[in-house]
Formats: sequence, C-alpha cells, structure tokens
Amino acid sequence: SARLAEILATRIDEYPDFPAPGVLFRDITPLLRDAGAFREIIAHWRAMVPAGVEYVVGTEARGFVLGAPLAYELGAGFIPVRKAGKLPGSPASLRYDLEYGSAEVQIPEGSLPAGARTLVVDDLLATGGTAAATIELTRSFGVELVGASFLIELEGLGGREKLPADVPVTTVWSIPD
Ligand code: PRP
Ligand code: MG
Repeated sequence: SARLAEILATRIDEYPDFPAPGVLFRDITPLLRDAGAFREIIAHWRAMVPAGVEYVVGTEARGFVLGAPLAYELGAGFIPVRKAGKLPGSPASLRYDLEYGSAEVQIPEGSLPAGARTLVVDDLLATGGTAAATIELTRSFGVELVGASFLIELEGLGGREKLPADVPVTTVWSIPD
C-alpha cells in the first residue's frame, strides 16, 4: 500500500560506510520510535506469514525487537537466538560469517518441540549468514520450519540463495541491486 511504502521510505534511514567501509547501514530506529508506523508494519507483516505459526525464532538484537511483537500478534511463543556467551545451560552453537566480520549464535537448550510450526524472523536479509545459521540451529530440534521472514531484503547480496531451498522466504521490503 501507499502508506506502507511511505513508512518504509521515511522511517528507515541509510548510513553509508557503517559499520565498515562499503556497507550501507539501514537504521530501523526511526520506525521503532513512531508508535503508529511500528504498529502498522507489524500488522502488515503478520498477514504475510504462513498460517498456524507456533513459535517465532528471532536473532539478537534487531530480530528480538521485531520478532517479539510479531510472535505476540500471532499468538506464538518467542525463542531468542543469542550471540555467544549469554545463555545458561548447554545451548547449541554455530559460528558464521557476517556481511562485516563473523559471529557465533546460540539457541537455548530445549527451546523447541519436534514438529512445531516455526518461523525464523529478522530485520534484514543481507548476505544470509545470520539467517542461515539461525535456520540451522532451529532445525536441529526437528521442527517444521514454515518459513523465514524479514523486514528488509537486500536482493543484490544473494542472501536468499544461501538459505535452504525448501524454506519459503517472505520479505516486507525487497530492495533491488
Ligand atoms: C544485522 C542484521 C541481521 C544481519 C544481516 O545484524 O540485524 O541480523 O546483520 O546480515 P547477513 O544477512 O549478512 O547475516 P548484526 O549482526 O549487525 O547485529 P544486531 O542485530 O545485533 O544489530
Ligand atoms: Mg541482527
């Protein structure tokens, strides 16, 4: 819709060369601070995801901010995938390459029951490293991964091709080039 396009165009700022040279950083904080825009984005997004989601998995940090309200609206549970060292017990871990640098993510032990209809959510699909790692951790529980969904997809970085071919991907805003 025109309203959605206006929100995306005016509430996500761009910062060239952050956090590294050559990276165009998309800042979602203007969207988050605008109560009406935030509600509208979550409402629109909610209608785009597969039916019957039981769990939303979101990746620290921006995947928490968007994944938690999405889960709440869907009536689903929320599972945090965290950067290494934050979770107690024996979390499953995975190291992966990022658009800038590398990182290790972990998922709480016993997070998900086998067969649960599960959706992976993040703010951004760039190179796909973060989402691929999150999907692999999520699938280690034997869930039914019903999709991966992102607020923004940077199509030119080929992230979608890095994800397993059988995972349906939806994005609110796909940016070409
Ligand atoms: C950013 C963004 C995505 C990821 C996308 O997270 O929030 O999670 O990068 O990049 P990729 O597709 O190339 O993996 P970042 O690790 O910068 O940290 P944050 O969410 O904690 O801000
Ligand atoms: Mg992130």
